Amino acid sequence: MNLNRCFKSLALSAALVALPFTVMAAPGPIVIKFSHVVAQHTPKGQAAEYFKKLAEERTKGRVKVEVYPNSQLFKDKEEMEALQMGSVQMLAPSLAKFGPLGLKEFEVFDLPFIFDDYAELHKVTQGPLGAKMLKKLETKGLMGLAYWDNGFKVMSANKPLREPGDFRGLKMRIQSSKVLDAEMRSVGAMPQVMAFSEVYQALQTGVVDGTENPPSNLYTQKMFEVQKYVTMSNHGYLGYAVLVNKKFWMGLPADIRTILDGCMKDATNFANSVAKKDNDEAMAAVKKSGKSQIITLTPQERAAWKKTMDKAHKESMSRIGADVVNEVYKETGYKP
Ligand code: LMR
Repeated sequence: MNLNRCFKSLALSAALVALPFTVMAAPGPIVIKFSHVVAQHTPKGQAAEYFKKLAEERTKGRVKVEVYPNSQLFKDKEEMEALQMGSVQMLAPSLAKFGPLGLKEFEVFDLPFIFDDYAELHKVTQGPLGAKMLKKLETKGLMGLAYWDNGFKVMSANKPLREPGDFRGLKMRIQSSKVLDAEMRSVGAMPQVMAFSEVYQALQTGVVDGTENPPSNLYTQKMFEVQKYVTMSNHGYLGYAVLVNKKFWMGLPADIRTILDGCMKDATNFANSVAKKDNDEAMAAVKKSGKSQIITLTPQERAAWKKTMDKAHKESMSRIGADVVNEVYKETGYKP
């Protein structure tokens, strides 16, 4: 009897000792939380889902990617802090949101009319300057894995915006970029920095009068339902860099990191191949809804916007760094 009890307690102790090792021997998957602020059906939203699919398939479940769209986890500014602290592992913030981190050179992407089309943009994002800029992120404990395209911005308001003077006195929501602030001031508007998740309501309640965004965001956030006019100005670019926490990324098993790098390459090709089509479709849907009147600028009207907004280039040159701005001018042929 006593012997029996003794055996039982020995067995129990052995099990308790073994338990932590058993747990350690079969660890769960590596979880990558990927937080973003836009809707799922946008270039960024779809690319995030595609990365998840590839990563989970190719690592055979050793990596699990949890995608949180629509600011579910964090709003704009908070998500950067969360990444630096390691509470999320992956983000794809818009390039306009890097300035407040102290990376002012990224604001070159916000300069109005600096890129005429995706081909000009890719000369920078897919060239040595783009790579050099991503490297700078490491000074902030981050790594930039890729640039993901969105598209060219349209301008919306409750009054028609045809010429620079039409902006006078309007409160315009912008992202947290000093260049966008200068852009709006150049046409006499009053820029207001606001988190993306708050824009719809701010437009609806009149806290701001208008905003700028690519059509995919205007459509999926339903901003067009609370804006009477949309001007197809294509006056500036909005796109992303995919960021990871450097410590987390470099701490991954090397074989996993290699697989994930491959997944990111393919997700990037995917993102950049759907961006234009998604924006064209979103613009067509906005037109079809009949909720906003669409304004197309004549070449002369567009030239007047460019001429007035050029002030934002002059004002921002030294802030961004003249070397970076001039390097981009050289690539894109921008003429002040
Ligand atoms: C915005 O805040 O307008 C954009 O950065 C949203 C996004 O991520 O496309």
